[in-house]
Amino acid sequence: MSLEWNAVFYERLADPMTRWGEAFLDRVELRGDEYVLDAGCGTGRVTEKLLERLPNGRVLAVDGSGAMVEAARERFAGDDRVSFLRRDLLELRVAEPVDLIFSTATFHWIPAHDRLFARLFDALKPGGRLAAQCGGEGNISRVDEATRRVMEQERFAPYFEGWTDEKLYAGAEDTERRLVEAGFEGAGAWLQPEPTPFAGVEHLADYLRTIILRSHVLVLPEEPDRDAFARAVALEMDGRDGPLLADYVRINLLARKPVQTASQQMINT
Ligand SMILES: C[S@@+](CC[C@H](N)C(=O)[O-])C[C@H]1O[C@@H](n2cnc3c(N)ncnc32)[C@H](O)[C@@H]1O
Repeated sequence: MSLEWNAVFYERLADPMTRWGEAFLDRVELRGDEYVLDAGCGTGRVTEKLLERLPNGRVLAVDGSGAMVEAARERFAGDDRVSFLRRDLLELRVAEPVDLIFSTATFHWIPAHDRLFARLFDALKPGGRLAAQCGGEGNISRVDEATRRVMEQERFAPYFEGWTDEKLYAGAEDTERRLVEAGFEGAGAWLQPEPTPFAGVEHLADYLRTIILRSHVLVLPEEPDRDAFARAVALEMDGRDGPLLADYVRINLLARKPVQTASQQMINT
């Protein structure tokens, strides 16, 4: 899957992610002088909230999309607390290990959670923490149903033959197990429903195209099919009973790297 995003549209449309990200940040205790890696920083809207809590700290803002990293770089120009890295998180290597890895709305885009957690573990100092929120089990299942119905329409079906969605909406138990297997301790994961209303079909169609259906539209030729697809899904959702909303479910992850890793403990015994 391409790692590129439309940073201009994301910046404009990411109010739900910013709201959840800020609320999740309230759960993370910070002294204010930590070195924090923001894994999947996007345009930096949530990173900005993180920096408000780090008057004497530093942030390494990492993202796989060049457009996102450039947008974040512009946002924080002149703030010497922030440095940037364009990197697939599955290839993450840091020069200096960090105190905390913080991440929002990103890990479900990277289905290989076992490999991801191993890379994150290595990037932490002993005793360092992981605090992340992303899409979890049951996330946007009604949106997915509406999307499947539109994918089956005659106009779109040929493009989606053999295509599979590569996202992972992990459950709490599986996530805790994967964190422990990666070497973390004190691993906790829990789901949090976040049904999110939309004012109208046009706004929802823009949002779907940029965010939720970002990888779907890539299989379609350029315009008018991409806009038409997102709009058709928005209309399909609008035609259902109840208010126009995306049935988001987030999963929260908290874990710590042991002060002594398992291999160090073996050396010491
Ligand atoms: C929905 S945005 C979230 C951005 C920001 N954290 C927020 O909450 O607004 C997901 C971000 O994850 C990044 N991303 C997705 N897969 C990635 C990967 N394999 N490596 C690095 N970044 C990735 C995308 O480029 C995008 O900026």
